[in-house]
Amino acid sequence: MWLTNSSIGRKLVMSITGAALILFVTFHVLMNAVALISPASYNAICAFLGANWYALVASMGLAVLFIIHIIYALWLTLQNRRARGHARYAVSARQPQVEWSSKNMLVLGIVVLAFLAVHLIQFWAKMQLTELLHSNAATIDGIEAAPQAGTLFIQEAFSCIWTPVIYIIGFVALWFHMTHGFWSMFQTAGWNNDIWISRLKTIGCWWASIVVGLFIIQAVVFTINAGNKTYSECPELKAQYTEYAQEYNAELNGASETDAVIPANPVCPEQCDQCKHAQ
Ligand code: HEM
Repeated sequence: MWLTNSSIGRKLVMSITGAALILFVTFHVLMNAVALISPASYNAICAFLGANWYALVASMGLAVLFIIHIIYALWLTLQNRRARGHARYAVSARQPQVEWSSKNMLVLGIVVLAFLAVHLIQFWAKMQLTELLHSNAATIDGIEAAPQAGTLFIQEAFSCIWTPVIYIIGFVALWFHMTHGFWSMFQTAGWNNDIWISRLKTIGCWWASIVVGLFIIQAVVFTINAGNKTYSECPELKAQYTEYAQEYNAELNGASETDAVIPANPVCPEQCDQCKHAQ
């Protein structure tokens, strides 16, 4: 097939999957921003998405995009190395017109991937995967944390001093990867006249800077809030966590959501007269 057999076809696949991933990180940073403005609303979004069918379809689509993007990146790199043969070992004068990020896209991608592995273990595995596997709710800072309690998982992750360090390294790599990837995908699509490439480079640089800048601000604020235990001590959030834990446990036990709050057949421990009459 043209998309797999020809070099331009493979580059086009990289561009399309890359564009979709840029849209995903843009959506993701906006969703995280909700946690800064209204943590309770953020948890409500986590509960709405959860492991519902539409969220699972989106997650699977996303995983497919990542996998295709990575496989094609490795494929194109190998193909380029083979084409250049020993030439790449020759010491040549520096080419100032070739950007640093353009020569290091594979390494940058691997750094982003390493960040992503840590990130998915910290969040996805404890939220969507836990719900999917029907595992028991975790306990964070003495509070029962159902998979919907997003802000509690943020607090847990950012309580570790290494989290902001690893995240910021990942964000910087993401910035370089995105700035190059942005204009490069338009160039692959044939949009490569000088005026437009320089415009697209500026747009790409702004886009990546806003997205990555927001991620960095979020990581800093989440680290400060985690240190202050903001998300485990707020009474409004605590009530929300309790509600989610009750609903989640009821689901695990196969009961309906209302049953979780008011047991259908409460057993009176005293076996009072009233209960005896009711039986
Ligand atoms: C401050 C930074 C970030 C925070 C606080 C954050 C938070 C989260 C949370 C809470 C989830 C779990 C959602 C759920 O399973 O319901 C998640 C999932 C995910 N995050 Fe992040 N994220 C951050 C940055 C990033 C970045 C930079 C990337 C990509 C390069 C990324 C990629 C993902 C992916 C791929 C998922 C899985 C999505 C899915 O299953 O549909 N995240 N993130």
